[in-house]
Amino acid sequence: MRNSMEKDILILAIESSCDETAAAVIKNGRTVLSNVISSQIDLHTLYGGVVPEIASRKHIEKINQVIEEALKQAETALEDVDAIAVTYGPGLVGALLVGVAEAKALAYAAKKPLIGVHHIEGHVSANYIENKELEPPFLCEIISGGHTHLVIVKDYGEFEILGRTRDDAAGEAFDKVARAIGLGYPGGPKIDRLSKEGNSQAIPFPRAKVADAAYDFSFSGLKSAVLNYLNKCRMTGEEICEADVAASFQQSVVDVLVDTAIRAARDKGIKKLAIAGGVASNQTLRNAMAAACEKEGIAFYHPSPIFCTDNAAMIGVAGYYEYLKGTRSGLDLNAVPNLKLGER
Ligand code: KG4
Ligand code: ZN
Repeated sequence: MRNSMEKDILILAIESSCDETAAAVIKNGRTVLSNVISSQIDLHTLYGGVVPEIASRKHIEKINQVIEEALKQAETALEDVDAIAVTYGPGLVGALLVGVAEAKALAYAAKKPLIGVHHIEGHVSANYIENKELEPPFLCEIISGGHTHLVIVKDYGEFEILGRTRDDAAGEAFDKVARAIGLGYPGGPKIDRLSKEGNSQAIPFPRAKVADAAYDFSFSGLKSAVLNYLNKCRMTGEEICEADVAASFQQSVVDVLVDTAIRAARDKGIKKLAIAGGVASNQTLRNAMAAACEKEGIAFYHPSPIFCTDNAAMIGVAGYYEYLKGTRSGLDLNAVPNLKLGER
């Protein structure tokens, strides 16, 4: 706990790993003074997915304005921040580089410490913003467009990986299935919405388990099952109810995500479970996880949807805890597109 006489610690955070250009100012690790996100989704929707080259160009166009806006909304000047945190991986290399170069330039010009932050550590840290009492250790399921991990958060920024996806990430499965039923990009929110009109028991899609790895995930078999189902209907002229497909697919993902997390919590005797990443904003998942946790006597944590999908506030929170630990990056900080969890 901080005592009230101590000076506030302000972190300016920058995130540009995929298709959101974002900046935020975080006070004392858990208070969001500003959280500015310039989304490129409309642009990439035209192409049915993120086009890396366009993403980089758009980041360059927006980043200065987004940072200025974040400082302005926080009523802070660059000279008043204590450190600059930036996502340096994993992500699209060209996109990451824009944020990293900007952060280095600002750190050099304003003589501020620079802290490279792991994007996934950011997602996990989003849980600290609205759950002031949440502290490690706890179990966290990170489910985004690029990643699916089940980890024990042993301490701030310290993870024991229990399981990961063998193929597609959970969000990737949502995006691919959405595209197959003609919903467009990004698929997660659209499937979430359409599912409300469908029957989740209509089509028995598989619940994949990975042999010999109790906490690993696999979503490509489910994706293929959906594609096969659609093809079969198209060949036989059977009518396709998109809402039923969406709801049945979603239920299959949700069942696997809930079952795996609860099983791990039980096996490891952990009584706190958090979810993170874009898919963590899925309403059916949140309801199912909350119900399962309540039944098991597990405390359940999740960020608000705006802190689930990519944002810079979560990078600022992770950056704060790295700052306290003494983590500092040099001006030779580089983007690491395939940075693994637990690596620096
Ligand atoms: O965390 P995120 O913004 O970016 C990555 O780091 O990947 O996650 C984006 C992913 C996309 O695949 C998107 O379709 C999915 O999160 N997503 C959702 C929902 N909102 C976003 N998936 C299911 N339900 C949602 N409501
Ligand atoms: Zn992300």
